[in-house]
Amino acid sequence: MATIHVDGRDYEVDGADNLLHACLSLGLDIPYFCWHPAMGSVGACRQCAVKQYKNADDTQGMLVMSCMAPVQDDAYISIEDEEAKAFRANVIEWLMINHPHDCPVCEEGGHCHLQDMTVMTGHDSRRYRFRKRTHRNQDLGPFIGHEMNRCITCYRCVRFYQDYAGGGDLGAFGAHDNVYFGRFQEGTLESPFSGNLTEVCPTGVFTDQTHSEHYTRKWDLQFAPSVCHQCAVGCNISPGERYGDIRRIENRYHGEVNHYFLCDRGRFGYGYVNREDRPRVPEWRERQRVGTEPGETGVVAGTISLEIDDALDRAADGLRNARRVIGIGSPRASLESNHMLRTLVGNANFSTGIAARELELLVRMNELNTRCGLPSPSLREIENCDAVFVLGEDLINSAARMALAIRQAVNAKGEALAAERGIPSWNAEAVKTLAQEAHHPFFLATPDATELDELAEQTYNAAPDDIARLGFAVAHYIDSEAPCPEALDDATTVLASRIAEALMMAQRPLVVSGGSLGTPAVLEAAGNVARALARRTRPGALSLVRREANSTGLSLLGGQSLDWALECLTSGEADGVVILENDLYARADAGQIDAALQRADCIVTLDHQRTATWDKADIGLPASSFAESDGTLVSLEGRAQRFYQVFEPSYIRPETRIRESWRWLNALKASVERQVVTPLTLDEVTRDMAMTYPALAPAGDAGLSAAYRVHGLRLAREPHRYSGRTAMRANLDVSEPRAPQDPDTPFAFSMEGYAGYAEPRREVAFAWAPGWNSPQAWNKFQDEVGGHLRAGDPGVRLLGPLPGDYDYARTLPARFAAHDDQWLAVPQARLFGGDETSSRAEPIQARMAETRFTVSRAAAERLRMSPGATLTLNLGARQLTLPVEISDAWPDGVIGVPDQSGLPLVAPEWAHLEPQEVRA
Ligand code: SF4
Ligand code: SF4
Ligand code: FES
Repeated sequence: MATIHVDGRDYEVDGADNLLHACLSLGLDIPYFCWHPAMGSVGACRQCAVKQYKNADDTQGMLVMSCMAPVQDDAYISIEDEEAKAFRANVIEWLMINHPHDCPVCEEGGHCHLQDMTVMTGHDSRRYRFRKRTHRNQDLGPFIGHEMNRCITCYRCVRFYQDYAGGGDLGAFGAHDNVYFGRFQEGTLESPFSGNLTEVCPTGVFTDQTHSEHYTRKWDLQFAPSVCHQCAVGCNISPGERYGDIRRIENRYHGEVNHYFLCDRGRFGYGYVNREDRPRVPEWRERQRVGTEPGETGVVAGTISLEIDDALDRAADGLRNARRVIGIGSPRASLESNHMLRTLVGNANFSTGIAARELELLVRMNELNTRCGLPSPSLREIENCDAVFVLGEDLINSAARMALAIRQAVNAKGEALAAERGIPSWNAEAVKTLAQEAHHPFFLATPDATELDELAEQTYNAAPDDIARLGFAVAHYIDSEAPCPEALDDATTVLASRIAEALMMAQRPLVVSGGSLGTPAVLEAAGNVARALARRTRPGALSLVRREANSTGLSLLGGQSLDWALECLTSGEADGVVILENDLYARADAGQIDAALQRADCIVTLDHQRTATWDKADIGLPASSFAESDGTLVSLEGRAQRFYQVFEPSYIRPETRIRESWRWLNALKASVERQVVTPLTLDEVTRDMAMTYPALAPAGDAGLSAAYRVHGLRLAREPHRYSGRTAMRANLDVSEPRAPQDPDTPFAFSMEGYAGYAEPRREVAFAWAPGWNSPQAWNKFQDEVGGHLRAGDPGVRLLGPLPGDYDYARTLPARFAAHDDQWLAVPQARLFGGDETSSRAEPIQARMAETRFTVSRAAAERLRMSPGATLTLNLGARQLTLPVEISDAWPDGVIGVPDQSGLPLVAPEWAHLEPQEVRA
């Protein structure tokens, strides 16, 4: 710690910080541009000047860039010094010389760091009277708009894109006052983190193109704290709504998870919420029997829209008439909705809706996270690891934000080298120059090449069983009591001992694996490595990737597999089914699902998307998406997090009958039991859920109760300047109805309520503080800039290491051998298009690569396939035809089948490939 004296007042600050960081953390305002809490200082913009004095007697002082000046004990500085203020005002005037001053038509207006800093410095009149430099803009693809004239040359964009996120296709071109930030030629930005440019850039150069299409100023959006539903990482988001549509998603700062950044799937994948074809009223489908045998069902005679009571009555009649009703839950629905389904159908009749082989892996992952002796790390903890071993996960595709965290961990070697030389970690350019290509040890074992390969000390591309064998060997070289695979070749032996040594030498080694390859042996191998490290008393962490937003939660809640549910229906053991937010056709063979659903006499589906499963239901109940509901998810870290309703859909569209699934299920239960519905609040459902499942007990405290107040006030969902509320429904009725009431959360559907930053809050709908309208306002909510939220970061962790004995897995796979007449089909995660919901969003569809199989070059040559050739794969009765991608890294005898390709594959399966089915 150090004491600094700022404008006559004394403060205790962290002596390792720079002055800008220290002052901002104290809540003092200094304007800045090029500095960013996650990226450190480069001293490029000269905006953060302050006066520093030698001692208390020095009256002259000198101007320093506060972002480049280290904190010194007993330092005297002034922010308010007139010379410093004049310097800062001059700097911003220069920076603005070529700026078009087009705030009224700029999408950044109203949440612009440049606007905020301009006001902060007092610059308010333009003296420059000459022609401005102008640039041509580029088409950067479906996500990002480009307006280069607004650039102030702070270099943040390229520092984020290249240095932080590892992108190679955005750069700075030109010199002097004619520097251009863009691609070397027009085209889609390749980085899966490109969306962060919209928040990193302090002006309106990079804008969210998905927002442009239905643009609304920040102050006119309604927000709620939410959690991304597009994968299991659990990034915190701040979605903004207007007129019943989600207009954009911005990052919501979380000190342990996503910090300031999201991936593009999470940021731009919200379009499914706004789809016009969403079910918005209950539907009843009359079916006509076409056979005489029981279970022979048939064609849909017609679809009729229903009112709520009618829909509940018909659904209840159908379920009451069934001999046995089962429920199929969903890993993309909240814990509360799954719990209510389980309550409706009974424990013995509840399926998680997850295929058996995937569910086994999920259960095993929970065991490993609690029994292997190493904790499941947050992304912040991952960033602090100093050796990383990844088994079987292509993280950019399966858990993108975690890949970004691992990049920071591996690149932190530069900071370690700098620390040895007394260079502070925030001195970004010095650290980068020193680091050059130095990385912490990083080893990657995956079937194919990945975007993280460039950072790896060594990569290993092999079939899943061979990846597992490498892992088992690493565990053995860490602890000789761990079993060693037989017949290891020399190269693998050398690699395994090298990885083992690197992990043992590290202070904080990290092992990453997961379920993407669907191979238990890969998981067990990762478990053995983690156990071996724990037995050798090495600190470290084990991170296991799950597929969907609530995969971890569902596996903790428990229930049967989807296979069990389908078998119950197919065998006639059950003849009624309630399906919750789950398109079964994305999880199992269509023939199998058809056979099961055809036998059911009553199918009730709840969903917010019109899926193939929805179309098979007798009664469809329109469910809320994440944006219209509240609930709890458990991330892959094991963190239970609450997401809150952003808007009430019936306010703008009174005809809509959308309800939270847990509300529908409560009402449906009452209808089945011929009871009057007792309305439940979210707090009641969450409390009941937490009491019912011991593993989920802490999840009851994951969010704020509806009774939470700040100074007696609810929390505002809308900024104070929110306008037009009285006109929003004027097309329907000139008299404005009462704002919707929210019995489930402390948030009000209003600008009335607490929206400040002075009172620490864990759940912040939108970041705003006086004078801070841009995403940089998050700094006002943190205990120190870039640290934790002052009230604590949201969520509670459910998966911690438990004491107890554990033993190594001892069933080790044999070496993979390619078959002559069969290929091993393995699932392949993919970022864009690989999940059930965001793949329905138009911008994501525009960004999706063509769905293709991946095969090795050797196989392609044997089969005489050229790139783009089409191939038909036979998996039992299932068949899929796709073009082929040829990979030099991919192992021979194996074929990659992408997620959501139309052929659900959750685990490796042997497939046939007939030569005549290869078409060039
Ligand atoms: S484009 Fe934005 S982030 Fe990049 S240098 Fe210009 S102002 Fe800075
Ligand atoms: S990493 Fe996952 S949770 Fe985070 S923003 Fe991307 S899709 Fe969402
Ligand atoms: S923020 Fe200090 S020089 Fe740019």
